[in-house]
Amino acid sequence: MLKKILGGLGSSEKFEIPAHDSLLFKDIKWDRLPRHVAVIMDGNGRWATGKGLLRTAGHTAGVKTLKNILKTAIGLKLDALTVYAFSTENWKRPRPEVDFLMQLFSDYLKKELQEMHEDNVQIHFIGRIDGLPASLQKQMREAETLMQHNTGVKFNVAANYGGQDEILRAVQSLAAKVAAGELRPEEITEQAIDDALDTRGNLPVDLVIRTSGDERLSNFLLWQSAYAEFYFTKVNWPDFTPADFVAAMVDFAGRNRRFGGLKNQ
Ligand code: FPP
Repeated sequence: MLKKILGGLGSSEKFEIPAHDSLLFKDIKWDRLPRHVAVIMDGNGRWATGKGLLRTAGHTAGVKTLKNILKTAIGLKLDALTVYAFSTENWKRPRPEVDFLMQLFSDYLKKELQEMHEDNVQIHFIGRIDGLPASLQKQMREAETLMQHNTGVKFNVAANYGGQDEILRAVQSLAAKVAAGELRPEEITEQAIDDALDTRGNLPVDLVIRTSGDERLSNFLLWQSAYAEFYFTKVNWPDFTPADFVAAMVDFAGRNRRFGGLKNQ
């Protein structure tokens, strides 16, 4: 039973928001949790091909993992969970895989919207949303509107997202304000840039998790991760369990964050 709770959660089993005092959270140091966790959900393709399945089966399995990790983030009372669903570079993939992913995002919203709303989640999409299919854009906007007054975890889904592209768009919007005489160059502060990014209103990223063995940022949240800790695991995203997520929290709690200074924060 313990093994089942801690590690063996099969993707087909229903997973509820874990209670604060659940066995899953027994090693958690509640006063040393990250507030904003970002996840690069990598390895769907490798998971699938390793099982002799089509890559798309890996993405389908990845949705179930995402649902469980969101529930875990809610149980941990994280302030924000930001996930990398589709990068500005992912358009280079074969057309059928791209189409499949767009349909998967749409199906996910249809199926999970109500439950996320009941779980008090505030969903937000970051990236060049206007480059996505029109019907998906509409669903995204409707989901954001539905959950805009919720007060629980901020769930940011990066779609058609690139960190450099986000900074570029922020700089362009600030430059336009300067050109219009609404802003003076010296008023372009770090806070002003923060407020011009898609993630405005979120705390800086404390922890970036990347699954499946690669150890790079891949253009994800470049500005926001300036002082983030990194946690890499070889586990492919579809196999990543709530217990694996908790292990990353426990690892983070043991880190000595100095933010350029000398003392432990
Ligand atoms: C990376 O694995 C994963 C993606 C590019 C897609 C991520 C999408 C999901 C996890 C589906 C759920 C998302 C939402 C928002 C419903 P990869 O295909 O690059 O794997 P590989 O590196 O093994 O090829």
